[in-house]
Amino acid sequence: MKKEQNKMEKIVAFLKDNGFINLSSEPYGGFSSSYDYGVYGVEIKNNLKQAWWNEMTKHHEDIVGIDSAILMSPRVWEASGHLSAGFADELVECKSCHKRFKADELEIPSLEEKIKKLKKDGAVGINEMDIELNTKIWKKCSCGELITDLPKKFNIMMKTFVGPIESDTNVVYLRGEACQGIYMNFLWAKNSARMKIPFGICQIGKAFRNEITPGPFTFRTREFEQMDLQFFVKPDDADQWFEFWKQARINFYINLGISKDHLRFHDHPQNKLAHYAKKACDIEYLFPWGWSEIEGIHNRSDWDLGNHSKFSGTDLSYFDQEIKEKYTPYIIETSAGCDRTLLAFLIEAFNEFENGRNNEANNVEYLLKLNYQLSPVKVAVMPLLKNKEGLQVKAREIYNTLKFEFNTKFDDNGSIGKRYRRQDELGTPWCITVDFDTLEDNCVTVRNRDTMLQARVKIVDLINYIKTHLC
Ligand code: GAP
Repeated sequence: MKKEQNKMEKIVAFLKDNGFINLSSEPYGGFSSSYDYGVYGVEIKNNLKQAWWNEMTKHHEDIVGIDSAILMSPRVWEASGHLSAGFADELVECKSCHKRFKADELEIPSLEEKIKKLKKDGAVGINEMDIELNTKIWKKCSCGELITDLPKKFNIMMKTFVGPIESDTNVVYLRGEACQGIYMNFLWAKNSARMKIPFGICQIGKAFRNEITPGPFTFRTREFEQMDLQFFVKPDDADQWFEFWKQARINFYINLGISKDHLRFHDHPQNKLAHYAKKACDIEYLFPWGWSEIEGIHNRSDWDLGNHSKFSGTDLSYFDQEIKEKYTPYIIETSAGCDRTLLAFLIEAFNEFENGRNNEANNVEYLLKLNYQLSPVKVAVMPLLKNKEGLQVKAREIYNTLKFEFNTKFDDNGSIGKRYRRQDELGTPWCITVDFDTLEDNCVTVRNRDTMLQARVKIVDLINYIKTHLC
């Protein structure tokens, strides 16, 4: 366990040091549980979103995309059930410090501590104490106070106000899940793209939840991004599509480089389903702290379109020309956390070499072995020496050609070994060195990140060479 904790600490430090992810508001000492993506973090996050978008929309004729607003009519959240107990955490509250906790996070006090508390609260008889000891929940707050009241539900929707007046009539919510924006666009997307059931609508967007126990790191935060598919089907076909999307979605992670052994399905038992779900399955990744959800797949039945029809008065049912029948479509949802899956990809790619790998023995070196599609930088161009004009000019020429094709970096700082090491840390698949021979033969040395093998490639063939190998 200690080893795994150390691994996570190392990864968090590595991600900060290399411009991937850091706590937000750093000049103010950081703002707990909010994170910023840095110069390389934003690139890899964009690559992940692009890979997901291509996979889900471009590769499927029957799926289209939208981008809906974060602020919506508050009625949306009434209809969706998010303002009721269904979208709430069960918490206990400490009467002394007023902090709220999930009950199972807290210690159980000793018998002596319980009796001391009962006496303080005025209990005297053995019988009375016995009843209290056996019927209350008995937890110990981090401030030392004992908590005895049963957990209550606390809603986790984030509220704000629209307009200049802060009153109950102006309350709006930051969306608690991105999919509600898709339901609002069901008719518009269906009609404008002339879609027929079965079909899907995708969206990537932010969601907000006032999580009581955020962490670890970016795994659970209050502001996060979801990559959602809502797939609308005939009710009789829902089970079959549910199975289809389970397989398709786990394959997405495998194809992008996560080992099969680090992924598994977790089917939810019927008594643990979210308020909207008829069936649910998580895709879990083996994080350093254990198996945890990265994506939820749900059969949401006709809950969403049915409720929005009722609450809005707009008919969101579907007339199926094939069977000449009207029905409310069932929805199969695949909802992946962008931040969470990105963290899984980063953890999976992280490699540490205690005794170096670029001829710098005894130095710890890191390698981010990302799938090339996800790598923030694809190519680094390096003149062998910084102060030789001929090498600089040639290297700049190559850089200026490649930068229109791939995310390319120019690096002339330090020894070649150090530069390789820097690019390994960013997960850059290709390093191109311009040396004195280049000036004669118009060839460069291309070094591969994973094999560290070097090939001599003609400058005119470089774009094709990299394109072919990136695939
Ligand atoms: N529309 C369904 C829905 O939102 P969910 O299981 O609550 O379902 C889907 O969320 C995914 O969103 C999760 O699998 C997770 O990856 C991500 N997610 C949920 N809450 C999150 C949080 N507080 N921080 C980061 N990611 C979160």
